[in-house]
Amino acid sequence: MRNPQLNRHGELTHLITTEGIPRDILLHILDTAQTFVPLAQRDVKKVPLLRGKSVFNLFFENSTRTRTTFEIAATRLSADVFNLNINVSSAAKGETLLDTIANLSAMQADIFVVRHQASGAPYLIARHVAPDVHVINAGDGRHAHPTQALLDMYTIRHFKKDFANLRVAIVGDVLHSRVARSNIHALTTLGVAEVRAIGPLTLLPGGLEQMGVQTYTDMAAGLRDVDVIIMLRLQNERMRGALLPSSHEYFKHYGLTQKKLEFAKPDAIVMHPGPMNRGVEIESAVADGPQSVILNQVTFGIAVRMAVMSIVAGASN
Ligand code: CP
Repeated sequence: MRNPQLNRHGELTHLITTEGIPRDILLHILDTAQTFVPLAQRDVKKVPLLRGKSVFNLFFENSTRTRTTFEIAATRLSADVFNLNINVSSAAKGETLLDTIANLSAMQADIFVVRHQASGAPYLIARHVAPDVHVINAGDGRHAHPTQALLDMYTIRHFKKDFANLRVAIVGDVLHSRVARSNIHALTTLGVAEVRAIGPLTLLPGGLEQMGVQTYTDMAAGLRDVDVIIMLRLQNERMRGALLPSSHEYFKHYGLTQKKLEFAKPDAIVMHPGPMNRGVEIESAVADGPQSVILNQVTFGIAVRMAVMSIVAGASN
Protein backbone atom coordinates (compact mmCIF):
# COMPACT_ATOMS: atom_id res chain seq x y z
CA MET A 1 0.00 0.00 0.00
CA ARG A 2 1.27 3.49 -0.88
CA ASN A 3 2.28 5.71 2.05
CA PRO A 4 -0.79 8.01 2.42
CA GLN A 5 1.51 11.00 3.01
CA LEU A 6 3.03 10.70 -0.45
CA ASN A 7 1.33 11.44 -3.77
CA ARG A 8 1.59 9.20 -6.81
CA HIS A 9 4.92 10.84 -7.72
CA GLY A 10 6.36 9.95 -4.29
CA GLU A 11 6.24 13.59 -3.14
CA LEU A 12 5.26 14.60 0.39
CA THR A 13 1.73 15.99 0.22
CA HIS A 14 0.75 15.59 3.91
CA LEU A 15 2.95 15.18 6.99
CA ILE A 16 1.26 12.84 9.44
CA THR A 17 4.13 10.76 10.84
CA THR A 18 7.85 10.28 10.32
CA GLU A 19 7.24 6.53 10.01
CA GLY A 20 7.83 5.40 6.46
CA ILE A 21 9.11 8.72 5.12
CA PRO A 22 12.12 7.95 2.90
CA ARG A 23 15.54 9.20 3.99
CA ASP A 24 15.91 11.46 0.94
CA ILE A 25 12.69 13.30 1.83
CA LEU A 26 13.76 13.74 5.47
CA LEU A 27 17.10 15.15 4.30
CA HIS A 28 15.35 17.39 1.74
CA ILE A 29 13.26 18.88 4.58
CA LEU A 30 16.38 19.50 6.70
CA ASP A 31 18.28 21.01 3.74
CA THR A 32 15.33 23.24 2.85
CA ALA A 33 15.06 24.37 6.48
CA GLN A 34 18.74 25.29 6.41
CA THR A 35 18.05 27.76 3.60
CA PHE A 36 15.39 29.46 5.76
CA VAL A 37 17.48 29.84 8.93
CA PRO A 38 19.36 33.02 7.77
CA LEU A 39 16.03 34.72 7.08
CA ALA A 40 15.66 35.41 10.82
CA GLN A 41 18.64 37.82 10.66
CA ARG A 42 17.21 39.92 7.83
CA ASP A 43 15.23 43.14 8.25
CA VAL A 44 12.45 41.66 6.15
CA LYS A 45 11.96 38.09 7.35
CA LYS A 46 9.58 37.07 4.59
CA VAL A 47 9.66 35.10 1.35
CA PRO A 48 6.67 34.91 -1.03
CA LEU A 49 6.49 31.11 -1.35
CA LEU A 50 2.96 30.78 0.09
CA ARG A 51 1.59 34.14 -1.00
CA GLY A 52 -2.17 33.83 -1.57
CA LYS A 53 -2.38 30.53 0.35
CA SER A 54 -4.49 30.11 3.48
CA VAL A 55 -3.09 28.20 6.45
CA PHE A 56 -5.55 27.17 9.17
CA ASN A 57 -4.12 26.34 12.60
CA LEU A 58 -6.46 23.98 14.43
CA PHE A 59 -5.21 23.27 17.93
CA PHE A 60 -7.66 21.10 19.87
CA GLU A 61 -4.97 20.68 22.57
CA ASN A 62 -2.82 23.27 24.33
CA SER A 63 0.43 24.40 22.80
CA THR A 64 2.98 27.16 23.17
CA ARG A 65 5.90 26.27 20.90
CA THR A 66 4.27 24.36 18.05
CA ARG A 67 1.33 26.68 17.53
CA THR A 68 3.38 29.86 17.70
CA THR A 69 6.21 28.64 15.49
CA PHE A 70 3.75 27.33 12.88
CA GLU A 71 2.13 30.77 12.86
CA ILE A 72 5.49 32.52 12.52
CA ALA A 73 6.57 30.06 9.83
CA ALA A 74 3.40 30.55 7.76
CA THR A 75 3.65 34.33 8.15
CA ARG A 76 7.28 34.29 6.99
CA LEU A 77 6.17 32.32 3.93
CA SER A 78 3.66 35.16 3.26
CA ALA A 79 0.60 32.93 3.75
CA ASP A 80 -2.64 34.20 5.25
CA VAL A 81 -2.86 32.54 8.66
CA PHE A 82 -6.05 31.77 10.55
CA ASN A 83 -5.95 30.46 14.12
CA LEU A 84 -9.22 28.78 14.97
CA ASN A 85 -10.05 29.31 18.63
CA ILE A 86 -11.43 25.85 19.36
CA ASN A 87 -13.00 26.86 22.70
CA VAL A 88 -15.27 29.40 21.05
CA SER A 89 -15.72 27.50 17.78
CA SER A 90 -18.69 25.32 16.87
CA ALA A 91 -16.64 22.26 17.90
CA ALA A 92 -17.63 23.32 21.43
CA LYS A 93 -21.30 22.97 20.38
CA GLY A 94 -20.81 19.41 19.18
CA GLU A 95 -19.86 19.93 15.53
CA THR A 96 -17.89 16.93 14.30
CA LEU A 97 -14.24 17.25 13.33
CA LEU A 98 -15.00 16.43 9.70
CA ASP A 99 -17.84 18.99 9.56
CA THR A 100 -15.46 21.63 10.93
CA ILE A 101 -12.94 20.68 8.25
CA ALA A 102 -15.59 20.71 5.48
CA ASN A 103 -16.66 24.21 6.49
CA LEU A 104 -13.11 25.55 6.64
CA SER A 105 -12.41 23.87 3.29
CA ALA A 106 -15.38 25.83 1.91
CA MET A 107 -13.42 28.94 2.95
CA GLN A 108 -10.60 27.83 0.58
CA ALA A 109 -8.15 26.46 3.13
CA ASP A 110 -4.91 25.27 1.53
CA ILE A 111 -3.10 23.84 4.55
CA PHE A 112 -4.49 22.52 7.82
CA VAL A 113 -2.11 22.34 10.77
CA VAL A 114 -3.78 20.05 13.29
CA ARG A 115 -3.11 19.20 16.90
CA HIS A 116 -5.61 16.80 18.42
CA GLN A 117 -5.84 14.69 21.55
CA ALA A 118 -7.08 11.72 19.48
CA SER A 119 -4.40 9.65 17.77
CA GLY A 120 -5.23 9.42 14.09
CA ALA A 121 -7.24 12.68 13.81
CA PRO A 122 -4.87 14.32 11.25
CA TYR A 123 -4.88 11.11 9.17
CA LEU A 124 -8.69 11.08 9.19
CA ILE A 125 -8.70 14.69 7.98
CA ALA A 126 -6.12 13.95 5.27
CA ARG A 127 -8.37 11.20 3.91
CA HIS A 128 -11.28 13.61 3.54
CA VAL A 129 -9.76 16.81 2.14
CA ALA A 130 -9.51 17.65 -1.57
CA PRO A 131 -6.31 16.54 -3.33
CA ASP A 132 -4.90 20.07 -3.40
CA VAL A 133 -5.32 20.55 0.38
CA HIS A 134 -2.49 19.55 2.69
CA VAL A 135 -2.57 18.36 6.29
CA ILE A 136 0.29 18.69 8.76
CA ASN A 137 0.16 16.86 12.06
CA ALA A 138 1.13 19.14 14.95
CA GLY A 139 0.82 16.29 17.46
CA ASP A 140 -1.95 13.66 17.77
CA GLY A 141 -2.55 11.82 21.04
CA ARG A 142 0.37 9.57 21.80
CA HIS A 143 0.83 8.71 18.11
CA ALA A 144 3.12 11.20 16.37
CA HIS A 145 4.63 14.69 16.42
CA PRO A 146 6.54 14.72 13.14
CA THR A 147 7.58 18.38 12.97
CA GLN A 148 9.00 18.12 16.51
CA ALA A 149 11.03 15.12 15.36
CA LEU A 150 12.22 17.00 12.28
CA LEU A 151 13.33 20.02 14.28
CA ASP A 152 15.05 17.63 16.66
CA MET A 153 16.86 16.05 13.68
CA TYR A 154 17.80 19.51 12.46
CA THR A 155 19.19 20.39 15.89
CA ILE A 156 21.18 17.15 16.10
CA ARG A 157 22.65 17.66 12.62
CA HIS A 158 23.45 21.29 13.42
CA PHE A 159 25.47 20.39 16.51
CA LYS A 160 26.80 16.94 15.55
CA LYS A 161 27.12 17.37 11.73
CA ASP A 162 26.55 13.71 10.83
CA PHE A 163 23.99 11.14 12.00
CA ALA A 164 26.27 8.13 11.56
CA ASN A 165 28.18 7.02 14.68
CA LEU A 166 25.83 8.90 17.03
CA ARG A 167 24.44 7.32 20.18
CA VAL A 168 21.13 8.95 21.11
CA ALA A 169 19.30 8.37 24.41
CA ILE A 170 15.60 9.17 24.81
CA VAL A 171 14.82 9.40 28.52
CA GLY A 172 11.61 9.22 30.51
CA ASP A 173 7.96 8.64 29.66
CA VAL A 174 8.44 6.92 26.31
CA LEU A 175 5.14 5.06 26.71
CA HIS A 176 2.97 8.16 26.31
CA SER A 177 5.30 10.16 24.09
CA ARG A 178 4.42 11.00 20.48
CA VAL A 179 7.77 12.83 20.34
CA ALA A 180 9.68 9.66 21.26
CA ARG A 181 7.89 7.59 18.60
CA SER A 182 8.46 10.17 15.87
CA ASN A 183 12.10 10.62 16.87
CA ILE A 184 12.77 6.87 16.87
CA HIS A 185 11.44 6.55 13.31
CA ALA A 186 13.43 9.57 12.10
CA LEU A 187 16.66 8.57 13.86
CA THR A 188 16.59 5.01 12.54
CA THR A 189 15.79 6.17 8.98
CA LEU A 190 18.63 8.68 9.14
CA GLY A 191 20.98 5.91 10.24
CA VAL A 192 22.26 6.81 13.70
CA ALA A 193 24.44 4.11 15.21
CA GLU A 194 22.35 3.55 18.33
CA VAL A 195 19.00 4.65 19.74
CA ARG A 196 18.43 3.99 23.43
CA ALA A 197 15.30 4.40 25.53
CA ILE A 198 15.79 4.88 29.26
CA GLY A 199 13.02 4.85 31.85
CA PRO A 200 11.17 2.81 34.44
CA LEU A 201 9.68 -0.41 33.03
CA THR A 202 6.18 1.03 33.51
CA LEU A 203 7.00 3.85 31.06
CA LEU A 204 8.78 1.80 28.37
CA PRO A 205 6.31 0.41 25.82
CA GLY A 206 6.63 -3.07 24.36
CA GLY A 207 8.02 -3.38 20.85
CA LEU A 208 10.93 -0.94 21.23
CA GLU A 209 13.52 -3.63 20.42
CA GLN A 210 11.66 -4.44 17.20
CA MET A 211 11.98 -0.74 16.30
CA GLY A 212 15.76 -1.04 16.70
CA VAL A 213 15.88 0.60 20.14
CA GLN A 214 17.93 -0.67 23.09
CA THR A 215 16.13 -0.29 26.42
CA TYR A 216 17.62 0.60 29.80
CA THR A 217 16.09 1.06 33.22
CA ASP A 218 19.30 2.42 34.72
CA MET A 219 20.46 5.96 33.88
CA ALA A 220 24.16 5.27 34.48
CA ALA A 221 24.17 2.41 31.97
CA GLY A 222 21.84 4.07 29.47
CA LEU A 223 23.61 7.42 29.36
CA ARG A 224 27.10 5.93 29.13
CA ASP A 225 28.97 7.56 26.22
CA VAL A 226 25.91 8.98 24.47
CA ASP A 227 26.21 12.00 22.16
CA VAL A 228 22.64 13.23 22.42
CA ILE A 229 20.15 13.12 25.29
CA ILE A 230 16.48 13.78 24.56
CA MET A 231 14.56 14.27 27.81
CA LEU A 232 10.80 13.72 27.86
CA ARG A 233 8.11 15.23 30.02
CA LEU A 234 6.07 12.98 32.30
CA GLN A 235 2.73 13.05 30.45
CA ASN A 236 0.48 12.92 33.49
CA GLU A 237 -2.56 13.82 31.38
CA ARG A 238 -2.17 10.53 29.47
CA MET A 239 -1.43 8.26 32.45
CA ARG A 240 -4.16 5.94 33.64
CA GLY A 241 -3.46 4.61 37.12
CA ALA A 242 -0.34 5.03 39.20
CA LEU A 243 2.66 4.26 36.99
CA LEU A 244 5.12 5.97 39.33
CA PRO A 245 5.55 6.10 43.11
CA SER A 246 6.02 9.93 43.12
CA SER A 247 7.60 12.68 41.06
CA HIS A 248 10.25 13.04 43.81
CA GLU A 249 11.17 9.36 43.43
CA TYR A 250 11.13 9.72 39.63
CA PHE A 251 13.53 12.66 39.72
CA LYS A 252 15.88 10.73 42.01
CA HIS A 253 16.22 7.89 39.48
CA TYR A 254 15.50 9.48 36.08
CA GLY A 255 15.81 13.24 36.50
CA LEU A 256 18.74 14.60 34.50
CA THR A 257 21.16 16.21 36.93
CA GLN A 258 24.65 17.56 36.35
CA LYS A 259 25.98 14.43 38.05
CA LYS A 260 24.07 12.02 35.79
CA LEU A 261 25.03 14.09 32.73
CA GLU A 262 28.65 13.13 33.41
CA PHE A 263 27.87 9.55 32.26
CA ALA A 264 27.40 10.91 28.73
CA LYS A 265 30.20 12.12 26.44
CA PRO A 266 31.65 15.46 27.61
CA ASP A 267 30.29 17.18 24.48
CA ALA A 268 26.86 15.56 24.63
CA ILE A 269 23.95 17.86 23.88
CA VAL A 270 20.80 17.95 26.03
CA MET A 271 17.43 18.34 24.30
CA HIS A 272 13.84 18.59 25.50
CA PRO A 273 10.75 19.19 23.35
CA GLY A 274 9.09 21.27 26.07
CA PRO A 275 7.16 22.05 28.09
CA MET A 276 9.73 21.18 30.77
CA ASN A 277 8.99 20.21 34.33
CA ARG A 278 12.02 21.48 36.20
CA GLY A 279 12.85 19.31 39.18
CA VAL A 280 10.84 16.41 37.76
CA GLU A 281 12.65 15.24 34.61
CA ILE A 282 15.45 17.79 34.50
CA GLU A 283 17.23 20.06 36.96
CA SER A 284 17.57 23.75 36.15
CA ALA A 285 21.38 23.63 36.18
CA VAL A 286 21.22 21.23 33.20
CA ALA A 287 18.24 22.83 31.43
CA ASP A 288 20.00 26.21 31.49
CA GLY A 289 23.53 24.83 31.32
CA PRO A 290 26.15 24.95 28.53
CA GLN A 291 25.18 21.56 27.07
CA SER A 292 21.50 22.46 26.73
CA VAL A 293 20.26 23.19 23.20
CA ILE A 294 16.61 23.37 24.24
CA LEU A 295 16.00 26.93 23.06
CA ASN A 296 17.92 26.28 19.83
CA GLN A 297 15.35 23.56 19.14
CA VAL A 298 12.56 26.13 19.42
CA THR A 299 14.29 28.56 17.06
CA PHE A 300 15.05 25.86 14.47
CA GLY A 301 11.38 24.86 14.66
CA ILE A 302 10.44 27.95 12.65
CA ALA A 303 12.69 27.11 9.70
CA VAL A 304 11.75 23.44 9.81
CA ARG A 305 8.03 24.24 9.77
CA MET A 306 8.60 26.69 6.91
CA ALA A 307 10.32 23.86 5.04
CA VAL A 308 7.52 21.39 5.65
CA MET A 309 4.78 23.83 4.61
CA SER A 310 6.59 24.97 1.48
CA ILE A 311 7.35 21.38 0.45
CA VAL A 312 3.83 19.99 0.91
CA ALA A 313 2.30 23.04 -0.79
CA GLY A 314 4.61 22.50 -3.75
CA ALA A 315 3.65 18.84 -4.16
CA SER A 316 1.67 18.29 -7.33
CA ASN A 317 -1.71 16.57 -7.11
N1 CP B 1 7.03 20.51 21.94
C1 CP B 1 5.75 20.88 21.91
O1 CP B 1 4.92 20.29 21.21
O2 CP B 1 5.45 21.96 22.69
P1 CP B 1 4.00 22.66 22.74
O3 CP B 1 3.06 21.67 23.38
O4 CP B 1 4.18 23.91 23.55
O5 CP B 1 3.60 22.94 21.33
